[in-house]
Amino acid sequence: MADPLSRRRSRLPPAPAAGGLAQAVETLRSVLRFRPIELDPVARRLARATSVHELRGIARRRLPRGVFDYIDGGAEDERTMAANAAAYARTTFRPRVLRDVGTVDPATTLLGRPLPLPLVLAPTGFTRIADPAGELAVARAAGRAGLPYTLSTLSTRTIEEVAAVGPGRHWFQVYVWRDRGLVRDMVERAAAAGYEALVLTVDTAVLGRRERDVRRGFTLPPKIGLGTLLDGALHPSWTWAFVRAEPIRFANVAEPGAGSGPGDGSQAVSLADYINSQFDPALSWDDVAWLRSVWDGPIVLKGIQTVEDARLAADAGVEAVALSNHGGRQLDGAPAPLDLVAPVADAVGDRVEIICDGGVRRGSDIVKAVALGARAAMAGRAYLYGLGAAGERGVDHVLALLAADVRRTMALVGARTVADLTPAVVSAGASAQGDQQRHV
Ligand SMILES: Cc1cc2nc3c(=O)[nH]c(=O)nc-3n(C[C@H](O)[C@H](O)[C@H](O)COP(=O)(O)O)c2cc1C
Repeated sequence: MADPLSRRRSRLPPAPAAGGLAQAVETLRSVLRFRPIELDPVARRLARATSVHELRGIARRRLPRGVFDYIDGGAEDERTMAANAAAYARTTFRPRVLRDVGTVDPATTLLGRPLPLPLVLAPTGFTRIADPAGELAVARAAGRAGLPYTLSTLSTRTIEEVAAVGPGRHWFQVYVWRDRGLVRDMVERAAAAGYEALVLTVDTAVLGRRERDVRRGFTLPPKIGLGTLLDGALHPSWTWAFVRAEPIRFANVAEPGAGSGPGDGSQAVSLADYINSQFDPALSWDDVAWLRSVWDGPIVLKGIQTVEDARLAADAGVEAVALSNHGGRQLDGAPAPLDLVAPVADAVGDRVEIICDGGVRRGSDIVKAVALGARAAMAGRAYLYGLGAAGERGVDHVLALLAADVRRTMALVGARTVADLTPAVVSAGASAQGDQQRHV
């Protein structure tokens, strides 16, 4: 009977002869590649982040849950937020080949000025919650990339501080306070500080119900309760940076008369209470005319969600509309902006420029929006994830990823310039909801 041990031994590879061993060492040496050890922790973190999705994952680990949810969350069942991304996912390309894409140039123009990439950084309130440098970091990164940065009315750095970061293109986003004098004052300050355009946000008559914030009792400034303390202890690097930095406040509305709340730093309130008491729900098309009377530059209406309102915006003489549902943070059940691009372009594309805002996570999303008729896309959370994951360098990283994505996608669909990005580049069945809107 055969010895079972000897049978097992016979399946093992033969012991290497001395020459064989040398060969094995040689082969291993040719394939083994050890990356040099990166001592800079931020660089190490960024080297692993190959997409905005991965930066979101890093931000989720680094930020306290309440802070991450304030950035990441949407209204109610978050269906609109999901729909924004789903519209991009269901839109596919019709790539053309053999088109000599040796040189690809994604440059375009927006509001009469050149832009290296069809992308604008969206306004996001309370940006210092993600990183103490906040709006200054984002403005600097946008400036390096040559892209316009939109400063929110609810920013945590002033209009002037952001303008002072150096060369860069700044837009100012306006929420209309009940006190029009306050708005006029901010608009005049923006003009004096060289801001190029005003972005009037029109989808926030009242604040959407962001249930993650409600559940966590999220307030501005963040309240230090037992839960916050525990959350902070679990995220020490954020907490240490937060407590060392100057207190966060709504920097542009700190003047007396702005009302109580985060503006004067005296008490913590929920964002909903603050906005619902300060913003004017009676805002109407007359206010667009009023804004025109106090501002000489271009106006972008942000939050247009139907073809009818895009027509009214064009009639009102604004230069651009940002098709937007606030990243799904306002009305749950609103249409995905990407689905509106083609019908709005059909209706008023010759009268206003179209910016598609919401759900952009990859450069291919930007290419899809432009192919359907947008002049540019706007992105909010994408850069906030970068900021939360790795501060200013995280924002640089996001913008570099998106720029590289756009170039690569253009090459792969056979487009050398944005003029080649026509509706023929995307699949005809891409926009089911858009086709419905087309017949409005
Ligand atoms: C944390 C956060 C704060 C925001 N604050 C503002 C704001 O102050 N003003 C405004 O017009 N839009 C605001 N938005 C909406 C963005 O401008 C933009 O419409 C939205 O982020 C686009 O969706 P995306 O995040 O999927 O790119 C905010 C969005 C986020 C995520």
